[in-house]
Amino acid sequence: MLGKIMARLVKKEDRGPMAVKVDNVTKWICMCGLSKNQPFCDGNHKKTADEEEGKIYQYHPDGTRTEIQ
Ligand code: FES
Repeated sequence: MLGKIMARLVKKEDRGPMAVKVDNVTKWICMCGLSKNQPFCDGNHKKTADEEEGKIYQYHPDGTRTEIQ
């Protein structure tokens, strides 16, 4: 199986993190799927701020995005 690449598209609708308290310390969990520090938010959700309602976007590793619907 070496050399085979598996890929999948996952649709995310959240545009911000979810706060979780662990031992009274707040951790911010990425809900948008764009953080490069999963599962924690790294602020990349700000890229979704100008998304238009009803449209679907694909985000690329280089930081760009494409409207796909
Ligand atoms: S919620 Fe995903 S980067 Fe902040």
